[in-house]
Amino acid sequence: MEEKAKKTFYVTTPIYYVNDVPHIGHAYTTIIADAMARYQRLKGKKVFFLTGTDEHGQKIEKSAVEKGLTPQELADQVVVRFKDLWQRLNISYDYFIRTTEKFHQEGVQKIFKKLMAQGDIYKGSYQGWYCVSEENFLSEDVPLEPEGYKLCPDCGRQAVLLEEESYFFRLSAYQQALLDFYQSHPHFVRPASRMNEVVSFVRQGLKDLSITRTSVTWGIPVPGDPRHTIYVWFDALHNYVTAIGYDWNPELFATFWPADIHLIGKDILRFHAIFWPAFLMAAGFELPATVYSHGWWLKDEAKMSKSKGNVLDPYFILDKAGTDALRYFLLREIPIGLDGSFSHEGFVHRINSDLANDLGNLVQRTLTMAVNYFEGQLPPPAEENDADRELARQFDETKTRVYEFYDDRSLNRALEEIWFFLSLTNKYLADHEPWKLASLPEKRERLARVIYQALCAIRGASYLLYPVMPGTSEKIWELLGEARQPSSLLTSGLDFYDYQRGENISRAKAIFPRIDLNEFISETEKKTGVKTCPAGEMKAKEKKMEYITYEEFKKMDLRVAKVIAAERVEGTKKLLKLQIDLGTEQRQIIAGVAETYSPEDLLNKEFIVIANLQPAVIRGIESQGMLLAAEIENLAIIPFFDREIPPGTKVK
Ligand code: ME8
Ligand code: MG
Repeated sequence: MEEKAKKTFYVTTPIYYVNDVPHIGHAYTTIIADAMARYQRLKGKKVFFLTGTDEHGQKIEKSAVEKGLTPQELADQVVVRFKDLWQRLNISYDYFIRTTEKFHQEGVQKIFKKLMAQGDIYKGSYQGWYCVSEENFLSEDVPLEPEGYKLCPDCGRQAVLLEEESYFFRLSAYQQALLDFYQSHPHFVRPASRMNEVVSFVRQGLKDLSITRTSVTWGIPVPGDPRHTIYVWFDALHNYVTAIGYDWNPELFATFWPADIHLIGKDILRFHAIFWPAFLMAAGFELPATVYSHGWWLKDEAKMSKSKGNVLDPYFILDKAGTDALRYFLLREIPIGLDGSFSHEGFVHRINSDLANDLGNLVQRTLTMAVNYFEGQLPPPAEENDADRELARQFDETKTRVYEFYDDRSLNRALEEIWFFLSLTNKYLADHEPWKLASLPEKRERLARVIYQALCAIRGASYLLYPVMPGTSEKIWELLGEARQPSSLLTSGLDFYDYQRGENISRAKAIFPRIDLNEFISETEKKTGVKTCPAGEMKAKEKKMEYITYEEFKKMDLRVAKVIAAERVEGTKKLLKLQIDLGTEQRQIIAGVAETYSPEDLLNKEFIVIANLQPAVIRGIESQGMLLAAEIENLAIIPFFDREIPPGTKVK
């Protein structure tokens, strides 16, 4: 992805609710943001990294009542927990905003007034269902349960029926403008698959959004009508502009707005990719460059969330393994965008193999040799040979690729590259056997060269690692006697040979002690009182595969079908009604693919259907067969053929 040539970089995390204490999920987003901020600082950019807390709304109000506190008291307590965790995690934020701060409240009110005056906000009355846990209005097509209430499609909790006077934001008026914007800014939402989801949601039509509540008192009062408080999402999203000076520091605001990247979890994509740009358009602000939505950390297949009570305590992991181990694991284990499952086995394995072995051992071994063979003062080394030059060349290649991946926000790929280079360095040492050279007095200069190359490699890698593992890099610099100046390193270059040959090398300590898996698991269980599900059990589950015979497979009549007509099923978000040509006959099928494909997308396309599946009635319409599709995160992706095939052709 191309980088803007601008000199500033503004990155944000969501502002987290203060209904409960922070967990690994919040840590994840914040660590990604921190790595991005640190990388951009290394590049010499002026960075503003914002995080904070979302303190208003019904959810907080409710949680405070349950704990016997006022909402403000609850917020004050929980904010300390967040700030403390960010400190433990070495998070280099520039500002921590709290939505209860005066300047923020005033900024939100000012924007509210402006939108009101220009007719983008109007008064009406709201009737519908609301989920307090997600602070979200349910769309009308969520079905009523037999017991007479609706369940939130996002979290599964019971929603409440609201009927109250409300101010509305004219979201419907921004539908076309949003679609045009997505079209002209295809990278606005990343990863790209998420963009399709957003576009198809907006295409289905946007309703005006209720943005005030009379039944909630814990919120910013509507200017001129204080019976109403402003809807928590309208309040919260504007933190991204108030924090950098909207309405109180025009210079700061002009320096950093629009944001380069809003990092979020996929749970709050719609708020950021639809509501937020619409609010900004209405108020006349420029739009942010990217909303980057990452996946979820799961525990035992379920999203970790405070409300579910299945969260992992980051403090325990920090106590056992340290800050950089957790930072590394979270960023290395999954590409931003996919879900990851946290297993103790996976965690311990990564720490022991990547950190204790590949990195920790390399550093310790090399420094120990420098101290033992040369008392930490390397003599002038022998001329380089081809293998020495090759290691330096490999470093330059690694560096280029790592920068590209950091620029593209592919942090896990950047780390993979660094680890590949570490393995080359380990191999270099194994090939050149300095421990053997050490016993040969005539090979002293050659020995110095081998150790020097390894030290240069470690030093080089430590700079590339800095955005993700700043504490470890600093530790390595200290051991190497390296003058610590990471700032604008990347602009002034990172030369392999820039290492001032071993002036002050101290003996290495183990920088990453190994963790004992059994001890780790049993201590976790003792601490949390919850039995962990070791990854081994999951594997066993996978192995218990049930086989079918070929005869059974043959019973399925799989055919190539061609779409000859397609339309949406009224009143549903997911369903398309398709007329298909099966060669010998035409049929109608109902397919749950409307969130990924529009009717036009599918017209004349060919895919595979099971033709002999018992017909079913879906939403009152008959479906005579089923198409095959992969499902990722609730989105159906249809496999298409790479050439045209006569409809009705058998697939086997
Ligand atoms: O939604 N895996 O706050 P919130 C990965 N206040 N990330 C996770 C996660 C998990 N299991 N659980 C939480 C709110 N997160 C609003 C935001 S912004 C203007 C207002 C992370 O406390 C992820 O970033 O529910 C997710 O989007 C965020 O925490 C939700 O935090
Ligand atoms: Mg949440």
